[in-house]
Amino acid sequence: EKDGYKHFMLKEIHEQPRAVRDTLRGKFFAGKVVLSDLRLQPNEISDIKRIILVACGTSWHAAMVGKYYLEKYTRIPTEVDIASEYRYRQKIIDSGTLVIPVSQSGETADTLAALKEAKTMGAKVLCICNVMDSSIPRESHGVLYTNAGPEIGVASTKAFTTQLAALYLMTLYLAQERNQLTPEQVADKIVDLEAIPAAMESVLQDGERYARFAERYHNYTDFLFLGRSYNLPIALEGALKLKEISYIHAEGYASGEMKHGPIALIDENMPVVVIATPSEVHEKVLSNMEEVMARKGRVIAISTNSTAVEAVADTFIVPEVPEEFSPMVNVIPTQFIAYYISDFKGCDVDQPRNLAKSVTVE
Ligand code: M6R
Repeated sequence: EKDGYKHFMLKEIHEQPRAVRDTLRGKFFAGKVVLSDLRLQPNEISDIKRIILVACGTSWHAAMVGKYYLEKYTRIPTEVDIASEYRYRQKIIDSGTLVIPVSQSGETADTLAALKEAKTMGAKVLCICNVMDSSIPRESHGVLYTNAGPEIGVASTKAFTTQLAALYLMTLYLAQERNQLTPEQVADKIVDLEAIPAAMESVLQDGERYARFAERYHNYTDFLFLGRSYNLPIALEGALKLKEISYIHAEGYASGEMKHGPIALIDENMPVVVIATPSEVHEKVLSNMEEVMARKGRVIAISTNSTAVEAVADTFIVPEVPEEFSPMVNVIPTQFIAYYISDFKGCDVDQPRNLAKSVTVE
C-alpha cells in the first residue's frame, strides 16, 4: 500500500496537499468557519483568558506556529509547552484557561497526562488530533480532527502540515466568534488558505533535485537549520527530521540567536539550511545569512527567488505564499532533505532505530 513509492514517508510527503484539503473540508459555510466538534458555547468562547498548547516532538513544533496564529488574531495570551515539562511544572490554571493538546496519534503518554492534569485543575481542553476516538480526544471536551489519514512512517510529515491547517482554522474560528475578524476578513483568509495545497504541490515536483543534493551532502556530520518568526519552528522541525531518520547531528536555531553562541561552530564543514522566504523579518534573515557566509559556512537557502540570495551553495525554490502560511510550504524542502539523505545512506527510513511511532510510555 505504498502506492508505488519506495517508502511510506515519501508517500506521506506527497499526500500533504490532499491531506490539508481534507483538514479544511466541511469547515466553511457561507464564508464562516464552523467547528461544531469543538462543542464550545458562545460564553465559553468569550471567557477564554489564556491558551496553553501542549505537545511533543513534531506536534510541539506545530504548536509553536499555532502560538503565532492565536496571538496575532485572537490577542489571547498563548504559551506553548513540551508536554513532558508541562505535566510536572507548577501550573497556573483557572476556568478562563484553554488547554490545546496537539497529537497525531492521540496516544502520546506525556501529552495525555498533561491533558488530564489540566482538566482536573479546571481547564477547558480542546485537542487537535489525527486518530479518531483515540485517548486524547476521548479525554478532551472537544476535538478538531486533522483528517490526514493513517501516518505509517515514524517520521511525521502530513500530520504536521495538517496540524498547521487545523491550528489556523481554530484561530480563525475563535477570532470570528469573538468578533476580532470581520466576516469579509475571515472569508479572505479562507480563500488564501485554500490556495496552499496547490502551492505545496509545486514543491513536490522537485524530488529529483533533492536526491542529487543528498548525494553531495550525505557525508556531512553536522547541519544547522535557521529560521525566524513563523519559520523558527520549521528550522527546529527540519533538524529533528534529519536527526531522526539519517542519524546526522542537526540543530535548529532562531537565526537571530546565531551571534549569541552558535556562530562559533561555523566553518566549511557545516551546511546551514536557511529558511529565507519573504517575511516581515526578511532583511534580518538575509543579514544572518551573510554572517554565516562570511565565516565560510555553506548556506543552503529555501527561498522564493534564486537571485535574492546569490553566493549560496544551493537554493531550493518554493512558491511565494502569504507569510503566515509559509511554514506549510517551507517544511517540504526540509522533509525532502532528510528523506533523500536517509535513503542515500541506506537507513531504514520508515522505522528509524530506537524510535516508536507513538510514545505511549513515559
Ligand atoms: O502522536 P504525537 O503527535 O503525539 O507524537 C509526538 C511525537 O512523538 C512525534 O511527533 C515525533 O516527534 C515524530 N516521530 C517526529 O517525526
